[in-house]
Amino acid sequence: MITIISATNRKESLTFKVAQFYSKLLTSKNVPNQVMDLCDLPNDFMFSNSFGASTNEFSSIVSKYIVSADKFVVVSPEYHGSYPGVFKSFMDCIGSDDVCTKKVALVGVASGRAGNLRGLEHLTSLFHHLKAEVFSAKPKLSEIHNLVNNQGEIENIETVALLQDQINRFVKF
Ligand SMILES: Cc1cc2nc3c(=O)[nH]c(=O)nc-3n(C[C@H](O)[C@H](O)[C@H](O)COP(=O)(O)O)c2cc1C
Repeated sequence: MITIISATNRKESLTFKVAQFYSKLLTSKNVPNQVMDLCDLPNDFMFSNSFGASTNEFSSIVSKYIVSADKFVVVSPEYHGSYPGVFKSFMDCIGSDDVCTKKVALVGVASGRAGNLRGLEHLTSLFHHLKAEVFSAKPKLSEIHNLVNNQGEIENIETVALLQDQINRFVKF
């Protein structure tokens, strides 16, 4: 099972639309997948699930989306030159055992021109610290508002080819 994580809690985010589009690409290749939206986290998750504390609601989310997955695709927007703080908070609340030895692919999303290049490097450092393996191809989707249409689809041929290439090789990684 591949869990695609939309790494922001911003409602109506373009990142979530990219995550859903990615899910469609995986499904069209018969690859089992699910999308995790950080908007679904309990509002107080960071305080009620850290430093030994835990709630049943948070534990069942972690079980469904993290423990049950053998691979992750993290689709991350660029916020202030990095990945969103809510994703780091989420990672700080889960055990490193749930992530180590697993495989991770990264996709960057930004309204600017860097496609979250720096955030993807920061995420690579985070996952390597946790002993997860990060796949080398990391598509960077710049000027995302020009790439995702009103139906949530990406039509740009070069962008779709980048994502397809990542998928084709990541499923064998
Ligand atoms: C708090 C915040 C910080 C942002 N910082 C950047 C940035 O540093 N560079 C950039 O290109 N876009 C930045 N953006 C714009 C996002 O890249 C843009 O909203 C894009 O649609 C992806 O984010 P989304 O998934 O929330 O829609 C920022 C957006 C927010 C909400």
